[in-house]
Amino acid sequence: MTKYESFRKGGTKDDPIVPGKPEESYLITVLTATTKIRMPPMDTGDALKKEEIAVLEQWIKEGGKLDTALTPKSDLPKELRIRWVPPAPKAVYTAPIEVTSLAFTPDNAKVVVAGNHELTVWDVAGAKLEKPH
Ligand code: HEM
Repeated sequence: MTKYESFRKGGTKDDPIVPGKPEESYLITVLTATTKIRMPPMDTGDALKKEEIAVLEQWIKEGGKLDTALTPKSDLPKELRIRWVPPAPKAVYTAPIEVTSLAFTPDNAKVVVAGNHELTVWDVAGAKLEKPH
C-alpha cells in the first residue's frame, strides 16, 4: 500500500474505499472491527485511535482523492519524507535536557550539541577556555 494506485486496486477484496461513503468502505470496516479482520491485526498492536480513524473517514467523505501534486503511481513514503517538516527546536526549555553528545567543528569556532532529537550549534569563537580546576 505504498502507492495510491495499488491502494485503490485492493488485495483479495476490491477497492477498500467507496468515495463519499466511509460507512461502506472496507478500510473503515477493518479499522473499526472487533473481530479478527481488524487492522492492524490484533496480535500486532492496538487499533488506531478514534481521532485517526475520523481523519480517514473525513477523507473518504470528501471523495478519497489524491493530492493534486501526486500521481497514482507516486511513491507515498518517499513523498511523505520530502514533505516532512522536522519539529522546530524549542526557543526555551522549561527543564534541563540531557546532552547526549557534543563535538567541536574542525576550526573550533562552533560546538554542535545533540540532545532531545535535535542538534544545536553554538558559536564559541572567541570564547576563552577556563583553566582546568
Ligand atoms: C493501520 C494499519 C493498517 C491498515 C489500514 C490495513 C488495512 C488493510 C486492508 C484494507 C486490508 C484488506 C486488503 C484486501 O485484501 O483488499 C488488509 C489486509 C491485510 N493486512 Fe492490513 N492494514 C494495516 C496494518 C497491517 C499490519 C501491521 C499487518 C501485519 C503485521 C497487516 C497485515 C495484513 C494482512 C496479512 C492482510 C491480508 C489479510 C486477509 O486477506 O485475510 N496489516 N489490511
